[in-house]
Amino acid sequence: MSQKSELRADAPIGVFDSGVGGLTVAREIMRQIPNEKIIYFGDTARVPYGSKSKETVTRYSRQIVRFLQTFSVKTIVVACNTASAYALDALEQETDIPVLGVVKPGAKTAAEVTKNGRIGVIATDATIGSQIYTKYIKELNRDVTIYGKACPLFVPLVEEGLLEDPVTDEIARRYLAELIDIDIDTLILGCTHYPLIRSTLARIMGDQVTLVNPAYETAYELKQMLADRKLLKEEEHKLGTDQYQFYVSDGADKFKRFANSIIKYGILSAKTINIEEY
Ligand code: DGL
Repeated sequence: MSQKSELRADAPIGVFDSGVGGLTVAREIMRQIPNEKIIYFGDTARVPYGSKSKETVTRYSRQIVRFLQTFSVKTIVVACNTASAYALDALEQETDIPVLGVVKPGAKTAAEVTKNGRIGVIATDATIGSQIYTKYIKELNRDVTIYGKACPLFVPLVEEGLLEDPVTDEIARRYLAELIDIDIDTLILGCTHYPLIRSTLARIMGDQVTLVNPAYETAYELKQMLADRKLLKEEEHKLGTDQYQFYVSDGADKFKRFANSIIKYGILSAKTINIEEY
């Protein structure tokens, strides 16, 4: 998995997720560094990652990194909290280009914004079980308490497009009740799907709770990292060309419909590939 050639500023950025959730990260990258080319891979045939083992998620992630490297990407963003929790260390060690996860940037912001030192994290079973947010936040600030809550039903609700729906509302109320009771002032949306139901979550948590969206923080950190390494692409890219390319492991049409509903940068196309070949 090594890439010996010099990294080029005009090379694309590789972004991957278990499915559509990472589009919230891709969307932030498009907003914050609009000149960049993006190759996005969504592992729609094998989603969800949040209920799978560390070994399986790491194996999937390695295959995806090999696929993205066929485009000579200059960096890879692991736009999935579960893959960041389980596979980032291995990918960083094995890959010669910078690999960024979504957990560290979100943890950093939460540690900075909390005032009462009580931070909630909502995420998949895997991310909560890994305690990865607790680990990173405690490294930055030992005096905070982190409350994790797995919310496994949010992913299928988002995948079904039930973003503003009484069913989503009811389930969110049940999941969030205990976090409201323990008086958190900061809530990390620790799963890439959750920003898509942000308004529901914000309404239930109330104004006194700051929602941290790791997608935003990750795009910001990516921009800084590329600038530090003189890898930011300066010249403008004309939309409608190959600036954004999307690949999935299954269901390209469904993915495309979803992507077009949340990313407003022209009509996107998506291709299906066999990720098991990588
Ligand atoms: N993208 C995953 C994450 O951020 C959620 C979906 C899944 O379980 O694969 O953890």
